[in-house]
Amino acid sequence: PPFWVVIPAAGVGSRMRADRPKQYLELGGQTILEHTLDRFLDHPQLQGLVVSLAEQDPYWPELQCAADPRICRATGGSERADSVLAGLQVLSGLGANEEDWVLVHDAARPNLALDDLNRLLATLADDPVGGLLAVPARDTLKRAGADGRVQETVDRSVIWQAFTPQMFRLGSLRAALMDALTSGVAVTDEASALEWAGHHPRLIEGRADNLKITRPEDLTWLQQRWQS
Ligand code: C5P
Repeated sequence: PPFWVVIPAAGVGSRMRADRPKQYLELGGQTILEHTLDRFLDHPQLQGLVVSLAEQDPYWPELQCAADPRICRATGGSERADSVLAGLQVLSGLGANEEDWVLVHDAARPNLALDDLNRLLATLADDPVGGLLAVPARDTLKRAGADGRVQETVDRSVIWQAFTPQMFRLGSLRAALMDALTSGVAVTDEASALEWAGHHPRLIEGRADNLKITRPEDLTWLQQRWQS
C-alpha cells in the first residue's frame, strides 16, 4: 500500500557518549541518518517523508540531503511522542488522510532491509490496527529485584523486542499518542500508545540486524559489517 514516513530524530542519545546526537555519527562515509533516509526515499510507494529534528540542530543543514525536496522537516519535542506528533502534523499539511498508513522509524536504525520493509507493508495492508517489526527474545530473561538479584525467570517464548518501522493509520496514531501524552503514560514506541488505547498491534518478525544504535559498541559492530 502507499505509505508516509516519520523519522523522529530529535533525541539527544546520551547513552552513546558522543559529541553529537547519534544519528549524525558516521557509518561508511555517510551519517547514520542519511542511511536511514535512503532506506525509504527510493521506495515506489512512498508518498512523503518527514524528519523531526531538535529545535537547535546545527548538524542537519550540513547534510547533502537537507536540500532534498522529497524530505520535509518538523520540529521535535521533549518526548518521542511529541516529535512524532509534530511529524504527523506536517504530513497532514502535505495532504495525508486520516486513514493513510504512516510508518514511524528510528533515525538511529540505519540497517533496515528492504525485504523486511516490504513484508511489513504487505502483511499489514488490510489490517484493522497495524503493527511493527519485532524479534523474538533469544536470551533467557530474568526479572530483577531492587537488590540486583534474580526474582524469577520470565517465559521468553512470549517475549518480543519491539523494532521499527511501526505502521499505523494516521488518525488512530495521532489520537493514541495524544491520549498517552495527556495521561502521562510512558510511551517508548508508537505501539505502546495504541496498546494504551486498547488495541493489539500485530508483531511481524524481522531481522535482528535492524538494530538501533544505542551504545558505542553497536556502531562498531555495524561499521565492521559495512566494510565487509
Ligand atoms: O532514545 P531512543 O534511542 O529510544 O530514541 C529513539 C528515536 O527517537 C531516536 O531516533 C531519537 O532521535 C528520537 N527521539 C525524538 N524526540 C525525543 C526523543 C527521542 O525524536 N524527544
